[in-house]
Amino acid sequence: MSPGVNLLEAQKLNVSYGEARVLFDVDFRIDDREIVACVGRNGAGKTTLLRTIAGFVKPVSGTVTADGTSLVGLPAYAIARRGVKYVPQDKKVFADLTVRENLELGSYATKDYDWDQVTGYFPKLKVLMDRKAGHLSGGERQMLMIGRAILGKPRVLLVDEPTEGLAPGIVDQLKEVFRDLSGKTALAIVEQNLPLVCAISTRIYAMKEGRIVAELPGAGATTPVECEQYV
Ligand SMILES: Nc1ncnc2c1ncn2[C@@H]1O[C@H](COP(=O)(O)OP(=O)(O)OP(=O)(O)O)[C@@H](O)[C@H]1O
Ligand SMILES: [Mg+2]
Repeated sequence: MSPGVNLLEAQKLNVSYGEARVLFDVDFRIDDREIVACVGRNGAGKTTLLRTIAGFVKPVSGTVTADGTSLVGLPAYAIARRGVKYVPQDKKVFADLTVRENLELGSYATKDYDWDQVTGYFPKLKVLMDRKAGHLSGGERQMLMIGRAILGKPRVLLVDEPTEGLAPGIVDQLKEVFRDLSGKTALAIVEQNLPLVCAISTRIYAMKEGRIVAELPGAGATTPVECEQYV
């Protein structure tokens, strides 16, 4: 697919949990080769947006399309099979399985295994392959989560708060991974680290109380202070 092509698009998404409306008419798109960020305060609805796109939450109304095909109503595994993969915020791994077994689960449905891509971005995982995932540090666990999603060469990666609680060294490493990866896989990142967001994103959506309140230019054109005003 050529650069600039609209890969994934959500339009007028409305989402509720029971009686409580959480997303209001959200428009969100990811073009090929982009790193799109979504910023906003706790409870703004960022995770809900990613989970709705990934098929874990069904919207009350609105559309989600990938390459022009509707994703609404498809089960999450079918959406993953179409190359839209979600890396959740909670960093939950299968503690009793090894790192290798955890990674393999990421391609269970698609049966495509690009081990070189995973170990190329995260050489440390090579050393940890036979260790039980329950023994990993927070940073190693995040490498495993992202590694699991990129084992199968996704077209779009939705990453929920990847740097939350991590030390600066691993944050810098993830920054480089995302930059390089975006040449092959479009990324949507929910992130509260505004300097990171402003440095690596091509576009930034600011979300407040379930609504997109601004769409800002990335690549250094928006400062963290400007970004902060919208959230
Ligand atoms: N499963 C659920 N059932 C009911 N309400 C929920 C559920 N998940 C989230 N909510 C509510 O929906 C709102 C949006 O939550 P969401 O997790 O999407 O926000 P967020 O922007 O990701 O926040 P954070 O930055 O804290 O991760 C919150 O008010 C939250 O309490
Ligand atoms: Mg969240």
